[in-house]
Amino acid sequence: MPLTRKAYRAAILHSIADPAEVGIEASYEYFEDGLLVVDNGQISALGHASELLASLPANIEITHYQDALITPGFIDTHIHLPQTGMVGAYGEQLLDWLNTYTFPCESQFADRAHAEEVAEIFIKELLRNGTTTALVFGSVHPQSVNAFFEAAEKLDLRMIAGKVMMDRNAPDYLTDTAESSYLESKALIERWHGKGRLHYAVTPRFAPTSTPEQLTLAGQLLGEYPNLYMQTHISENLQEVEWVKELFPERKGYLDVYDHYQLLGERSVFAHGVHLCDDECARLAQTGSAVAFCPTSNLFLGSGLFNLPMAEKHKLNVGLGTDVGGGTSFSLLQTLNEAYKVMQLQGARLSPFKSLYLATLGGARALRLEERIGTLQPGTDADFLVLDYNATPLLSYRLKQSKSIAETLFVLMTLGDDRTVAQTYAAGNLVHQR
Ligand code: GUN
Ligand code: ZN
Repeated sequence: MPLTRKAYRAAILHSIADPAEVGIEASYEYFEDGLLVVDNGQISALGHASELLASLPANIEITHYQDALITPGFIDTHIHLPQTGMVGAYGEQLLDWLNTYTFPCESQFADRAHAEEVAEIFIKELLRNGTTTALVFGSVHPQSVNAFFEAAEKLDLRMIAGKVMMDRNAPDYLTDTAESSYLESKALIERWHGKGRLHYAVTPRFAPTSTPEQLTLAGQLLGEYPNLYMQTHISENLQEVEWVKELFPERKGYLDVYDHYQLLGERSVFAHGVHLCDDECARLAQTGSAVAFCPTSNLFLGSGLFNLPMAEKHKLNVGLGTDVGGGTSFSLLQTLNEAYKVMQLQGARLSPFKSLYLATLGGARALRLEERIGTLQPGTDADFLVLDYNATPLLSYRLKQSKSIAETLFVLMTLGDDRTVAQTYAAGNLVHQR
């Protein structure tokens, strides 16, 4: 195969460490006039244009973006494909919201053509918003995952997804059985896990909708194949937490249910965790598990405020999740806008560099993919974005007043959304152009 080499010149910014561990200044690299070189879908060099240009052949194709910032692609560690059609459903908190809106909407995925149509819309929406990797809940129907992976494979995206396992406390039209969920998940794993840049996640919806038998089989599956993911929900809503105590009186608490069924581990991602206690954060950290912080959802469903400082105290891996359709935006920029406010309401700060970390390298670490995505380090996948400083008249005017990259970054996260993402590249290919 001939070498395809391209270079991109612009301001370039990426996270290289967690500000909570190394301090803000050591957590990022910024090149005011930077150059990113891509060879065959991977980043081969990153640096100051003035230094790198001399080392490149004269005939290399260079795309020069003015008034723009190149960053790594965003990583969404929690989102639901079959809830694309119900974003912004009025008036309920979690448990009523599930029964009133979510389950009927997900039932439409029994129709294969519907699943294919929504998978296309969903992936376009991810890319329009600059999300190049997501950890995705399908519906209970295996075809939701087949439709999603087929669409992701065509674009060579790095994506993770799984079929929901749910065998109780949901309508009959939407439940599987412990055995059928095991067999269907296994068939999906055999077909997709490790194919190209795709990975499978064993996906028990949450403790209340799985019997002990189903949770046992979910834990068993995780032991049968290497590097499988596990995704579920935890401690999102106070009524939900009480319900789990009633359903599993023999366990110490919500996390202990998952722990008992061997669902914790380095590739396990628990969505929300708004009402986790100190001991639970410690246990999550000890097992290398991660939490997806989903601020737009937590505010929209009135669930509560995620305690990021507590997670940091325990060195718990945290990624950012949109949680569409409980969340209200596919945009991780808008998600960070709300994350900042969630911290403000708790008397805490969220620095723009911590925010950048959460949306990129922090998400990659939560997914154990930091060797491949989340930064612009040479040797990693060329998944990156071009953010346009002139995306809207207000953004353009506001950024002209900016005195630093910190201020520019913070304003991008406050005013930015899908309009800010001018181009999205995945594995070096242009997969979205505004
Ligand atoms: N808990 C169980 N299922 C769901 C879901 O679909 N969305 C959210 N936000 N929480 C859940
Ligand atoms: Zn969710």
